[in-house]
Amino acid sequence: MIKMEQNPKILVADDEPVNRDLMEAILSKLGYRVLLAGDGDQALALALDQMPDLILLDIVMPGLDGFEVTGKLKENDRTKIIPIVIVSGKSEVRDRVKALEVGADDFLNKPVDPTELKARIRSLLKVKAYNDHMVNYQKKLEEEVAKRTLQLKASLDKIKSASLEAIYRLSLAAEYKNKETGDHIKRVSHYAEAIAVKMGLNKATIEAILYAAPMHDVGKIGIPDHILLKPGKHDEKEWEIMKQHTTIGARIMEGSDYGFIRLASVIALTHHERWDGGGYPRGLKGKKIPLAGRIAALADFFDAMTSTRPYREGIHSLEHTIGAIKMNSGSHFDPEVVDCFVQSQDRIRQIKETFSDNLPSPDRGAAK
Ligand SMILES: [Fe+2]
Repeated sequence: MIKMEQNPKILVADDEPVNRDLMEAILSKLGYRVLLAGDGDQALALALDQMPDLILLDIVMPGLDGFEVTGKLKENDRTKIIPIVIVSGKSEVRDRVKALEVGADDFLNKPVDPTELKARIRSLLKVKAYNDHMVNYQKKLEEEVAKRTLQLKASLDKIKSASLEAIYRLSLAAEYKNKETGDHIKRVSHYAEAIAVKMGLNKATIEAILYAAPMHDVGKIGIPDHILLKPGKHDEKEWEIMKQHTTIGARIMEGSDYGFIRLASVIALTHHERWDGGGYPRGLKGKKIPLAGRIAALADFFDAMTSTRPYREGIHSLEHTIGAIKMNSGSHFDPEVVDCFVQSQDRIRQIKETFSDNLPSPDRGAAK
């Protein structure tokens, strides 16, 4: 049910004190609160300040006239729903038309008949109460939608965050025997994301790369321990088996309904391909290697060169590694990916510091 204001506030603007007094007497008797203005500017200021429920406006006043005040109030989003009645001694049709044109809601002739005034005011206040109700309802609805949207976003962020953690932990499980660290998996994930951002890829693709890149080596779960964990160099036969971690990983993740898992399958298959065609398992060349695979190849290489792992000899400095990557631009790596990687150095350093292998790393076999 729509509730009317208990004692509606009515603004009366008239430059004749006697008219103001008369109106005040009638309206007060009817239980309304009355605000009085002696000219157009005062009427406008009072309306903006006091937000009355209805305004009775004379036409001819010093400063702004009744039409101008009406026009200004109807242009203002805050005041446009306040009903305005033009009260005037002018009763020509053109004045009535002009009053309606500038947005007035009604027109009354002077001298005002109290019975008619009462009826018009009651009717306009009902409209005002309905409009107020609708504005409040819409405002509440908008607030509720905004609140629910925030809740939904928070839930979605939680699900995404849980998914990412599950990916990291399962990737770690897959590489656990190989003694990889959780931070290694997160670093590769974020390095790949940083390159994808610099390459200007769209938001969905960047997110898919963030989620998919950490699963690049899950195929290692299918490599026999005596080969995976063998200290020192593999012989030719063993190396052929080691290389199969790419195809095994791709098989584990192929055919998913989810885009990022299908992308993980692509990355698992192609993260050891080389730009010049000298990589494995298929010896793909140039842009025949999917972009996500080219990005993950660089992210994985960079991390392998710069991370502290007891089983790997010769940890290299960032500068040395970046130099080596630049040297291999166009041979091992896609030159465009290298450029974007080099341009993302601040972010890359930040990631390296954030995920800095603070987990204990026990003795390990040889890394591939
Ligand atoms: Fe690998």
